[in-house]
Amino acid sequence: MKKITIAIDGHSSCGKSTMAKSLAKALNYIYVDTGAMYRAVTLFALREGLMNAETKEINTLSLEALMDRVNISFAHDENGRLQTLLNGENVEKEIREMTVSNCVSPIAALPFVREHLVALQQKMGLEGGIVMDGRDIGTVVFPHADLKVFVTASAEVRAQRRLLELQGKGDTTTTFAEVLKNVEERDYIDSHREVSPLRKADDALLLDNSHLTIPEQDELLLKWAMERINA
Ligand code: DC
Repeated sequence: MKKITIAIDGHSSCGKSTMAKSLAKALNYIYVDTGAMYRAVTLFALREGLMNAETKEINTLSLEALMDRVNISFAHDENGRLQTLLNGENVEKEIREMTVSNCVSPIAALPFVREHLVALQQKMGLEGGIVMDGRDIGTVVFPHADLKVFVTASAEVRAQRRLLELQGKGDTTTTFAEVLKNVEERDYIDSHREVSPLRKADDALLLDNSHLTIPEQDELLLKWAMERINA
Protein backbone atom coordinates (compact mmCIF):
# COMPACT_ATOMS: atom_id res chain seq x y z
CA MET A 1 0.00 0.00 0.00
CA LYS A 2 1.21 3.53 -0.80
CA LYS A 3 2.72 5.33 2.23
CA ILE A 4 1.50 8.92 2.32
CA THR A 5 2.41 12.07 4.26
CA ILE A 6 -0.31 13.51 6.49
CA ALA A 7 -0.17 17.04 7.94
CA ILE A 8 -2.46 17.96 10.83
CA ASP A 9 -2.54 21.60 11.92
CA GLY A 10 -4.93 23.62 13.98
CA HIS A 11 -5.71 25.58 17.11
CA SER A 12 -4.42 24.59 20.52
CA SER A 13 -6.54 22.35 22.76
CA CYS A 14 -8.69 20.86 20.04
CA GLY A 15 -7.34 17.34 20.44
CA LYS A 16 -4.97 17.38 17.45
CA SER A 17 -2.39 15.12 19.01
CA THR A 18 -4.97 12.58 20.20
CA MET A 19 -6.45 12.26 16.72
CA ALA A 20 -3.06 12.31 14.97
CA LYS A 21 -1.79 9.56 17.28
CA SER A 22 -4.78 7.32 16.72
CA LEU A 23 -4.64 7.84 12.95
CA ALA A 24 -0.92 6.92 12.93
CA LYS A 25 -1.73 3.80 14.96
CA ALA A 26 -4.55 2.74 12.64
CA LEU A 27 -2.29 3.12 9.59
CA ASN A 28 0.86 1.83 11.31
CA TYR A 29 2.58 5.14 10.49
CA ILE A 30 5.15 7.18 12.42
CA TYR A 31 3.61 9.97 14.52
CA VAL A 32 5.55 13.19 15.16
CA ASP A 33 4.41 15.77 17.72
CA THR A 34 6.18 18.95 16.59
CA GLY A 35 4.88 20.96 19.57
CA ALA A 36 7.01 18.63 21.75
CA MET A 37 10.06 19.67 19.70
CA TYR A 38 9.46 23.39 20.37
CA ARG A 39 8.92 22.50 24.02
CA ALA A 40 12.22 20.56 24.15
CA VAL A 41 14.17 23.55 22.74
CA THR A 42 12.48 25.73 25.38
CA LEU A 43 13.61 23.34 28.12
CA PHE A 44 17.14 23.38 26.68
CA ALA A 45 17.21 27.22 26.74
CA LEU A 46 15.92 27.32 30.33
CA ARG A 47 18.41 24.73 31.54
CA GLU A 48 21.34 26.47 29.84
CA GLY A 49 20.33 29.74 31.51
CA LEU A 50 19.62 31.30 28.10
CA MET A 51 16.04 32.23 28.94
CA ASN A 52 14.63 33.98 31.98
CA ALA A 53 11.38 32.20 32.92
CA GLU A 54 10.03 35.34 34.63
CA THR A 55 10.81 38.07 32.10
CA LYS A 56 10.84 35.67 29.08
CA GLU A 57 14.05 37.37 27.96
CA ILE A 58 16.12 35.14 25.66
CA ASN A 59 19.85 35.25 24.97
CA THR A 60 19.23 34.64 21.26
CA LEU A 61 22.87 34.93 20.15
CA SER A 62 24.02 32.17 22.51
CA LEU A 63 20.96 30.02 21.82
CA GLU A 64 21.52 30.27 18.08
CA ALA A 65 25.19 29.32 18.53
CA LEU A 66 24.14 26.22 20.50
CA MET A 67 21.31 25.04 18.21
CA ASP A 68 23.50 22.39 16.62
CA ARG A 69 23.83 20.81 20.06
CA VAL A 70 20.05 20.34 20.36
CA ASN A 71 19.18 16.86 19.24
CA ILE A 72 15.54 15.80 19.52
CA SER A 73 14.21 12.31 18.95
CA PHE A 74 11.25 10.15 20.00
CA ALA A 75 11.00 6.69 21.54
CA HIS A 76 8.24 4.49 22.98
CA ASP A 77 8.25 3.52 26.65
CA GLU A 78 7.40 0.02 27.92
CA ASN A 79 3.67 0.87 27.76
CA GLY A 80 3.92 2.01 24.14
CA ARG A 81 3.59 5.70 25.06
CA LEU A 82 5.59 8.17 23.01
CA GLN A 83 8.43 9.92 24.86
CA THR A 84 10.40 12.97 23.75
CA LEU A 85 14.18 12.73 24.08
CA LEU A 86 16.46 15.77 24.35
CA ASN A 87 20.03 14.72 23.60
CA GLY A 88 19.04 11.17 24.55
CA GLU A 89 17.36 12.11 27.87
CA ASN A 90 13.66 11.44 28.35
CA VAL A 91 12.12 14.89 29.00
CA GLU A 92 8.48 14.02 28.25
CA LYS A 93 7.22 14.97 31.71
CA GLU A 94 9.24 18.16 32.08
CA ILE A 95 8.23 19.62 28.71
CA ARG A 96 4.53 19.43 29.69
CA GLU A 97 5.01 21.40 32.92
CA MET A 98 3.75 24.98 33.29
CA THR A 99 7.24 26.57 33.22
CA VAL A 100 7.85 25.24 29.72
CA SER A 101 4.24 25.88 28.58
CA ASN A 102 4.56 29.51 29.66
CA CYS A 103 7.89 30.03 27.86
CA VAL A 104 7.38 28.11 24.60
CA SER A 105 5.61 30.82 22.54
CA PRO A 106 8.58 33.26 22.35
CA ILE A 107 10.95 30.37 21.57
CA ALA A 108 8.65 29.11 18.78
CA ALA A 109 8.67 32.63 17.29
CA LEU A 110 12.48 32.66 16.75
CA PRO A 111 13.29 32.17 13.04
CA PHE A 112 16.52 30.18 13.67
CA VAL A 113 14.67 27.78 16.01
CA ARG A 114 12.00 27.19 13.38
CA GLU A 115 14.58 26.68 10.65
CA HIS A 116 16.43 24.09 12.72
CA LEU A 117 13.27 22.18 13.69
CA VAL A 118 11.64 22.36 10.26
CA ALA A 119 14.80 20.81 8.75
CA LEU A 120 14.66 18.00 11.33
CA GLN A 121 10.93 17.44 10.66
CA GLN A 122 11.45 17.31 6.90
CA LYS A 123 14.16 14.69 7.39
CA MET A 124 11.79 12.59 9.54
CA GLY A 125 9.22 12.64 6.74
CA LEU A 126 11.52 11.73 3.85
CA GLU A 127 10.13 8.20 3.53
CA GLY A 128 6.41 9.05 3.86
CA GLY A 129 4.26 6.90 6.16
CA ILE A 130 4.06 9.76 8.66
CA VAL A 131 1.42 11.74 10.54
CA MET A 132 2.81 15.05 11.82
CA ASP A 133 0.88 17.52 13.93
CA GLY A 134 1.65 21.17 14.61
CA ARG A 135 0.85 24.65 13.36
CA ASP A 136 2.80 24.95 10.10
CA ILE A 137 3.01 21.39 8.81
CA GLY A 138 0.73 21.80 5.78
CA THR A 139 1.97 25.33 5.02
CA VAL A 140 5.75 25.13 5.63
CA VAL A 141 7.07 21.69 6.59
CA PHE A 142 5.22 19.58 4.02
CA PRO A 143 3.55 21.96 1.56
CA HIS A 144 3.08 18.96 -0.77
CA ALA A 145 1.60 16.61 1.87
CA ASP A 146 -0.85 14.07 0.41
CA LEU A 147 -3.45 14.91 3.05
CA LYS A 148 -3.71 18.17 4.99
CA VAL A 149 -6.22 18.62 7.79
CA PHE A 150 -6.93 21.82 9.69
CA VAL A 151 -8.59 21.13 13.03
CA THR A 152 -10.61 23.56 15.02
CA ALA A 153 -13.45 23.83 17.52
CA SER A 154 -15.10 26.86 19.08
CA ALA A 155 -13.04 28.59 21.80
CA GLU A 156 -15.82 27.82 24.32
CA VAL A 157 -15.80 24.10 23.54
CA ARG A 158 -12.00 23.95 23.78
CA ALA A 159 -12.00 25.88 27.06
CA GLN A 160 -14.65 23.54 28.49
CA ARG A 161 -12.56 20.48 27.50
CA ARG A 162 -9.41 22.01 29.02
CA LEU A 163 -11.27 22.86 32.23
CA LEU A 164 -12.53 19.27 32.57
CA GLU A 165 -8.97 18.02 31.99
CA LEU A 166 -7.62 20.36 34.71
CA GLN A 167 -10.40 19.32 37.09
CA GLY A 168 -9.57 15.69 36.35
CA LYS A 169 -6.04 16.45 37.56
CA GLY A 170 -7.44 17.83 40.84
CA ASP A 171 -7.52 21.56 39.98
CA THR A 172 -10.49 23.07 41.81
CA THR A 173 -9.61 26.78 41.55
CA THR A 174 -9.24 27.60 37.85
CA THR A 175 -12.45 29.08 36.39
CA PHE A 176 -14.01 28.68 32.94
CA ALA A 177 -13.44 32.40 32.26
CA GLU A 178 -9.70 32.05 32.99
CA VAL A 179 -9.29 29.05 30.69
CA LEU A 180 -11.31 30.74 27.93
CA LYS A 181 -9.09 33.84 28.16
CA ASN A 182 -5.95 31.66 27.88
CA VAL A 183 -7.36 29.77 24.85
CA GLU A 184 -8.22 33.06 23.10
CA GLU A 185 -4.81 34.57 23.88
CA ARG A 186 -2.97 31.54 22.51
CA ASP A 187 -5.10 31.60 19.34
CA TYR A 188 -4.18 35.25 18.87
CA ILE A 189 -0.42 34.71 19.42
CA ASP A 190 -0.32 31.61 17.18
CA SER A 191 -2.15 33.33 14.30
CA HIS A 192 -0.46 36.73 14.50
CA ARG A 193 3.23 35.92 14.92
CA GLU A 194 5.52 37.08 12.13
CA VAL A 195 7.12 33.75 11.26
CA SER A 196 4.92 30.86 10.09
CA PRO A 197 1.67 32.03 11.69
CA LEU A 198 -1.04 29.44 12.14
CA ARG A 199 -3.27 29.47 9.08
CA LYS A 200 -5.24 26.89 7.15
CA ALA A 201 -3.46 25.82 3.94
CA ASP A 202 -5.72 26.48 0.95
CA ASP A 203 -5.85 22.76 0.15
CA ALA A 204 -6.40 21.57 3.75
CA LEU A 205 -9.66 19.87 4.74
CA LEU A 206 -11.39 21.62 7.64
CA LEU A 207 -12.31 19.46 10.61
CA ASP A 208 -14.44 21.33 13.16
CA ASN A 209 -14.82 18.87 16.00
CA SER A 210 -17.00 21.06 18.27
CA HIS A 211 -19.85 18.57 17.96
CA LEU A 212 -18.01 15.33 17.11
CA THR A 213 -17.20 12.48 19.46
CA ILE A 214 -13.67 11.05 19.39
CA PRO A 215 -14.77 7.85 17.55
CA GLU A 216 -16.63 9.99 14.99
CA GLN A 217 -13.62 12.18 14.29
CA ASP A 218 -11.26 9.16 14.13
CA GLU A 219 -13.56 7.54 11.59
CA LEU A 220 -13.72 10.67 9.44
CA LEU A 221 -9.93 11.12 9.44
CA LEU A 222 -9.30 7.49 8.57
CA LYS A 223 -11.79 7.77 5.69
CA TRP A 224 -9.97 10.84 4.34
CA ALA A 225 -6.58 9.10 4.68
CA MET A 226 -7.80 5.92 2.92
CA GLU A 227 -9.20 8.00 0.05
CA ARG A 228 -5.73 9.52 -0.48
CA ILE A 229 -3.90 6.21 -0.06
CA ASN A 230 -6.14 4.54 -2.64
CA ALA A 231 -6.13 7.50 -5.04
O1 DC B 1 0.98 21.86 20.44
P1 DC B 1 1.72 22.39 21.66
O2 DC B 1 0.85 23.16 22.63
O3 DC B 1 2.52 21.33 22.37
O4 DC B 1 2.76 23.44 21.05
C1 DC B 1 3.66 24.14 21.87
C2 DC B 1 3.99 25.49 21.26
O5 DC B 1 4.76 25.35 20.07
C3 DC B 1 2.81 26.38 20.90
O6 DC B 1 3.09 27.68 21.41
C4 DC B 1 2.78 26.44 19.40
C5 DC B 1 4.19 26.09 19.01
N1 DC B 1 4.27 25.28 17.80
C6 DC B 1 4.65 25.90 16.63
O7 DC B 1 4.87 27.11 16.63
N2 DC B 1 4.79 25.17 15.49
C7 DC B 1 4.54 23.85 15.48
N3 DC B 1 4.69 23.16 14.34
C8 DC B 1 4.13 23.19 16.67
C9 DC B 1 3.99 23.96 17.82
